[in-house]
Amino acid sequence: MLDVSRSVPTHSALAQRWPLWLPPLVAAFYPYLLDAFHHLVKSDGRIFPEAALLLLAAFAVPALGLYLACRDSGIGAEQTRARRLALLLVATPTLYCFVGVNLYMLGVPVADGWVWTPAWLALALLATFRTPATSGDLDQRPTPLRVAHGVSGALVALFIAFHLFNHLFSLAGPEVHAALMERGRQVYRSPFVEPLLVIALLFQVVTGLQLAWRWSVRGGDFQRMFQLASGVFLAVFILGHLNAVFVFARTWAGIETDWAFATGAPTGLIMDPWSIRLLPHYALGVFFVLAHLGSGLRVVLLAHGMARRNADLTWWIGAGCASLVSLAIMLGMTGLRLD
Ligand code: HEM
Repeated sequence: MLDVSRSVPTHSALAQRWPLWLPPLVAAFYPYLLDAFHHLVKSDGRIFPEAALLLLAAFAVPALGLYLACRDSGIGAEQTRARRLALLLVATPTLYCFVGVNLYMLGVPVADGWVWTPAWLALALLATFRTPATSGDLDQRPTPLRVAHGVSGALVALFIAFHLFNHLFSLAGPEVHAALMERGRQVYRSPFVEPLLVIALLFQVVTGLQLAWRWSVRGGDFQRMFQLASGVFLAVFILGHLNAVFVFARTWAGIETDWAFATGAPTGLIMDPWSIRLLPHYALGVFFVLAHLGSGLRVVLLAHGMARRNADLTWWIGAGCASLVSLAIMLGMTGLRLD
């Protein structure tokens, strides 16, 4: 229910509540950064400096979400809501793909922005004017949920290691990438492994979102908020990716989930007005999944008595490597070849 006493706020009250309306407002306009980028590159295939800046701005949207999530570590219902909205902003690039694939399958006859932007603006209004419920308290003990999430995550990491290693071979060309994928498929698409993999990933999504909801009651340092933010991104990424592979491609469209599917061939990720959204989605998916595993490792190292300085340093090295892997895969997917 709308709280009528708060429904006509003064300017200063609105200004004070900016942490509630800013994240959904920024998310509402995310698609237009990609549209503007596409507009600048499409004519002759060259990328102008302005276009590169627009792509950077698209990456700045989740970075802003992370900054806002770290900004206020206060306790209180309004702070919790602001923090959760900031975490949702981090997931914007992957949520936009998820929404786009489903609108396409539903045959919605308008551009995605006509659904996306009003939905976020409505959320901005609701978040600003609807009184938040009390957010409860945080139980910091190591619960079975956390342990189960970590153990299952370590198992899923085996598949992820192969999957990303496979995508690194895009630098050697589609044929090499396809040959390696064919060998991996013998294992991960076998009738025994594939259902287990999907169940394990869905388990990660459900337990991860529960943990993020619980931990976002309180703020924390950068490391803690990064772990939550990357987890929220990955929950949406995994749902969207499984939906794209299993529901959209293999069931709805009946197409092969191969190199052409992954790279939006023949037009490619950069030149296609729809597929450009896959660039931040994949790049951040790779970065966040590796850095999130690093966050888990950091927690384990701290629990085993490693000095915080060393555990943090380990995480930073891991995050640096994650960025490089992500960059290498994206360069391979957009045409760079190491002959
Ligand atoms: C650049 C990033 C990525 C690209 C381009 C990509 C692309 C693909 C492609 C083409 C497939 C179909 C594979 C096949 O038919 O054998 C696939 C399947 C899959 N991907 Fe990814 N992926 C990426 C990142 C990730 C990440 C980060 C995860 C996990 C968090 C993930 C999880 C999966 C899973 C579980 C499957 C289903 C495997 C199966 O067929 O049983 N992917 N992906």
